[in-house]
Amino acid sequence: MAAIHLKQVRKTYGRGAKAVDVIHGIDAEIADGEFIVMVGPSGCGKSTLLRMVAGLEEVSGGQIVIGDRVVNELEPKERDIAMVFQNYALYPHMSVYENMAYGLKIAGLPKAEIDDRVQRAAAILELGALLERTPRQLSGGQRQRVAMGRAIVRKPAVFLFDEPLSNLDAKLRVQMRLEIQKLHASLRTTSLYVTHDQVEAMTLGQRMIVMNKGRAEQIGTPAEVYARPATTFVAGFIGSPPMNLLRGKLAADGAAFEAEQGGERGTIRLPQPAAAAGHERIWGVRPEHLLPVFDGSPAQLALDVELVEALGAELLVHGRCGGQPLVLRCPAHLRVAAGQRIGAAFGPADVHWFDAQTTHRL
Ligand SMILES: Nc1ncnc2c1ncn2[C@@H]1O[C@H](COP(=O)(O)OP(=O)(O)OP(=O)(O)O)[C@@H](O)[C@H]1O
Ligand SMILES: [Mg+2]
Repeated sequence: MAAIHLKQVRKTYGRGAKAVDVIHGIDAEIADGEFIVMVGPSGCGKSTLLRMVAGLEEVSGGQIVIGDRVVNELEPKERDIAMVFQNYALYPHMSVYENMAYGLKIAGLPKAEIDDRVQRAAAILELGALLERTPRQLSGGQRQRVAMGRAIVRKPAVFLFDEPLSNLDAKLRVQMRLEIQKLHASLRTTSLYVTHDQVEAMTLGQRMIVMNKGRAEQIGTPAEVYARPATTFVAGFIGSPPMNLLRGKLAADGAAFEAEQGGERGTIRLPQPAAAAGHERIWGVRPEHLLPVFDGSPAQLALDVELVEALGAELLVHGRCGGQPLVLRCPAHLRVAAGQRIGAAFGPADVHWFDAQTTHRL
């Protein structure tokens, strides 16, 4: 096993006038045995970074260290890594056993060693009864497990995953998510896992790297990233629905925030006066921390309800305040309808402030 150290890693595609910078200098240390998730929107550079770690893509700047070796110039096969892709293309004419054994056979391992490794991996992944089948005779989830098995048998120092579950349906994804957690609990192999699914990001990793446009916006445990997002981008990316973010200005006495956009205004009374009265700010509160208040109980803001989504266990109440969208996550039994104006309250600890210009957390 091995730690991974990314030092100012950069990537530029193309040359001269056609050069495009896609990774702008990423620093990250992944501990030996750690499971870290890289999450971010499409095109932010996740696959590019992963492929540079794998050796499938040249590094334009900086260093990638695996264990105690700088691997920038090493061939993929010299890096002691195994990768699982979204399109895990198994050999269709080979059995499950042969699919898993193939790489080891090529590497020239003795037959008994190959058999031992395949049987162990099959046991871990519960593929023992399927070893004679061909991929076509398997379900999507079973195929995914074979792809995983192919990586496990190599006993690499590092696992790299690029959206391995995105071709599966919702139920299978949940199952495979649990499988991957169990797998890491038993093997403890250093893992770098790419996804744009924030549930996977929250549940799979010990830490996550939130990427945006080729930069690491925040690196932290899921709990830290949820509780203290470093920027409005992170606040709007992690959490479902994402954090409410309203632009506006702090009142002269700091006791209220005037949400304002397109000439519309909404006053938000603050449970705790804010510093820097009069400044432009972005106010953030998560949908689950905004509590609806009825019967004229004191409220801190008023919301014009536009749409109510009943999700079974809860309601999502969509509305507007100060000309900007706002969502509340409420218990399912509440009676709220579009067209109503309702009040909402929140506690002092639930408010996140961001700089209106830099969008950084204050
Ligand atoms: N070979 C290439 N030449 C030029 N640009 C490329 C090349 N490969 C990727 N890019 C660009 O680099 C950026 C990052 O791409 P990358 O595939 O790493 O994104 P991603 O985060 O994995 O996205 P997704 O979630 O859609 O898989 C994108 O803007 C993409 O268009
Ligand atoms: Mg990708």
